[in-house]
Amino acid sequence: MATYAATITGTGSAFPAGIVTNQDIVEKLAASGIETSDQWIRERSGIRERRMAAPGNAEEHNSSLGLAASRAALEMAGKKPEDIDLIAYATCTPDTVIPSTSCWLQHKLGAVNAWAMDLNAACSGFLYCLSIADQFIQTGQVKTALVIGAEVLSSIINWSDRSSCILFGDAAGAVVVERAEADTPHRILSATLRSDGNLWELLHIPCGGSRYPATADIIRDHLNKIHMNGREVFKIAVRTLTSFAKQTLKKHKIAPEELDWFIPHQANIRIIEAVAERLSIPMEKVLVNIERFGNTSSATIPTVLDEAVRAGKIQKGQTVLMDAFGSGLTFGALLLRW
Ligand code: COA
Repeated sequence: MATYAATITGTGSAFPAGIVTNQDIVEKLAASGIETSDQWIRERSGIRERRMAAPGNAEEHNSSLGLAASRAALEMAGKKPEDIDLIAYATCTPDTVIPSTSCWLQHKLGAVNAWAMDLNAACSGFLYCLSIADQFIQTGQVKTALVIGAEVLSSIINWSDRSSCILFGDAAGAVVVERAEADTPHRILSATLRSDGNLWELLHIPCGGSRYPATADIIRDHLNKIHMNGREVFKIAVRTLTSFAKQTLKKHKIAPEELDWFIPHQANIRIIEAVAERLSIPMEKVLVNIERFGNTSSATIPTVLDEAVRAGKIQKGQTVLMDAFGSGLTFGALLLRW
């Protein structure tokens, strides 16, 4: 039995000001002779618009969005930056390679007593980080953790690929996780995490890292941007989201109908609907924001959570299942009682 339990006491989110509608993308692609339409994007993905950071605007750097989300979460939790022991920052679009985005955030927030780390598990990153915070809190090594999922995916969108460029947006979500008595019902119950590096090719950025540093040719050929096999990712996503949700519920002997809320990664509304159907979870219990924000990778789950908490949807004592997949490929589900 663990010494303590971990409980979420505050949530926050932040988005860049700039709204990019499907029509804006239609016009942007048309300038390079690529065809798409608002109708196609809406019907195939469920996305109407997304937010994108204005390049060069310091208020919309990854760590600045993370800062705004963190401040909102700390305010809800009634905590000060100095109270934080651990900053666990999920991102695959860091401000800089070094220092980590978590250190940028620590600097901006004044979280002087924390140790800070970034974690890249793409769209599963928030659940990986939340699970790490849970473990450190359970063993008594951390009392208060700040967990962030934040992305500026607009910096890696491949505008030459119409099947992927329509999907992504920028956002940050944050939660404060605190130590509670081991027997509290209001806690993170458990997570099921996995990855399969054999599937790396389905969703990757070929160049720009240490293996193939960016050159003028690489940039010209968009090799430092997202490359994706959408059809294959779609199939695997439906299969794994369903399977990880089932495994996690089974571990706690919770039937899908006992679940109050399901928060899946927001990649495509058709993926979400297919998973909900396979789990026999009615769509009224599925929380979504994809229509307004698109796929914001590690930020999807914490931004959806924040919206539902602030709207008073998620109530004390309710059971919430979070479920993610992403580049790697990475997978994870996390169950909690609010
Ligand atoms: N506008 C118009 N047509 C497009 C288009 C666009 N933006 N993008 C692709 N198409 C075309 C294709 O070229 C294809 O044409 P063809 O039949 O003449 O070859 C047709 O639409 C169907 O393509 P397909 O790839 O089968 O579409 P889809 O229904 O699978 O939808 C995705 C494409 C990318 C939206 C969908 O596969 C998806 O969401 N996959 C998962 C991606 C994902 O989740 N990534 C992030 C993981 S964290």
